[in-house]
Amino acid sequence: MSMRAILLSISVGALATIALALVPGVRAQTAAMPDGATLYRMRCGSCHAIDANRTGPLHRGVVGRRAASVPGYAYSPALRASNITWTPQTLDQWLQGPQRMVRGSRMFFTVANPQERAAIIAYLRSQPAR
Ligand code: HEC
Repeated sequence: MSMRAILLSISVGALATIALALVPGVRAQTAAMPDGATLYRMRCGSCHAIDANRTGPLHRGVVGRRAASVPGYAYSPALRASNITWTPQTLDQWLQGPQRMVRGSRMFFTVANPQERAAIIAYLRSQPAR
């Protein structure tokens, strides 16, 4: 083995050690995070349901749907005029700040944690229009 190869394998080993040292933290975080359905119930369930309009509009089929298009729900004029189509990207932006994304919209709720947003959006994706 050349000196160079030895040095390289030492530094790879050091990196692996550092990575392993981080793993328990990563595992703890993953284990502590509830799944998308549970997060949806916890974070969104006080105002939304999948199949019924409540304080907020129903969510079935929301991924791929035009904003403000659920019949029988009284949307804000701002959201009606927004011209948004809900995709994982636009939903991620919405959940970081509905007011910032659509000024005058009536949802006052954000999800700060990106992993939680991703899990909730994946759950919404799993509830397509019938
Ligand atoms: C405190 C009540 C409240 C909570 C909590 C809440 N929302 Fe909302 N949501 C609303 C209201 C009210 C609207 C209608 C906004 C408007 O008309 O401007 C809305 C609208 C939406 C829309 C637009 C739907 C459409 O048909 O265009 C999406 C998407 C949405 N919410 C997702 C979520 C998600 C996901 C969560 C949980 C992380 C959540 N909301 C939590 C009240 C809430």
